[in-house]
Amino acid sequence: MNIILLGPPGAGKGTQAKRIETSRAMVQLSTGDMLRAAIKRGEPLGLEAKSLMDAGKLVPDDLMIRLIASRMAEPDCARGVILDGFPRTTAQAEALDAMLAKVKPLCAVIELKVDVPALVERVSGRFTCAKCGAGYHDKFKPTKTPGVCDACGGTEFTRRADDNAETMKTRLKAYEEQTKPIIPYYAAKGILHQVDGMADMDKVEKDVSAILDRCE
Ligand code: AP5
Ligand code: MG
Ligand code: ZN
Repeated sequence: MNIILLGPPGAGKGTQAKRIETSRAMVQLSTGDMLRAAIKRGEPLGLEAKSLMDAGKLVPDDLMIRLIASRMAEPDCARGVILDGFPRTTAQAEALDAMLAKVKPLCAVIELKVDVPALVERVSGRFTCAKCGAGYHDKFKPTKTPGVCDACGGTEFTRRADDNAETMKTRLKAYEEQTKPIIPYYAAKGILHQVDGMADMDKVEKDVSAILDRCE
């Protein structure tokens, strides 16, 4: 099955995508993570995307569509993908439909609903293990031992350049103006589900899982 996790910055898309990846052996495709990896490797795509991402603006559709199309052509994606951060515009949603028409259609689009003050608090406290990529939060998901990654024992952590209250304004505006309009597109197809993303991570996972159970 193929699914989309939709929601504003900080809604918990990545957190839930990683849980589904583990519980259902699906493949998480986070376009944000893919772009950050391209920046780290110094690839041309990364160079093009970096200033836009740092400013909280969307990267052009043609780049994103090419990136996701080439990744989805890899054999592991046949297991089913969890799209996290894609599509983000109507053009991307239409391109995705064309890509999936040849394989498996989408079975669910899950919108995580979280209010703005909570989103700002979530991104402001987020940090990631530099070695294994495990995600944490100063308040909501601290490491068990301060300064040591629970998953790999790593002691270096990174914070995203766009995770601050100022850049969040632009990211939220991009979500409102460019991404929210795709919600009715999926509602019209009858595959949109809404989940209360304000609940704790385990409850959100349970609600998402109940939707996915009905997909299989
Ligand atoms: P991207 O990396 O996709 O960022 P985003 O959409 O802004 O979303 P985030 O990753 O910030 O949030 P999330 O929903 O994954 O939340 P998380 O689970 O980490 O994109 C970054 C940039 O790349 C974009 O601005 C754009 O420039 C570019 N880009 C990417 N895709 C693009 C596309 N398709 N088109 C154009 N441009 C694109 O959770 C956040 C924090 O909250 C964590 O610390 C977590 O521990 C905590 N948390 C999670 N769930 C809960 C909970 N239930 N309760 C309490 N805390 C929680
Ligand atoms: Mg994310
Ligand atoms: Zn780690």
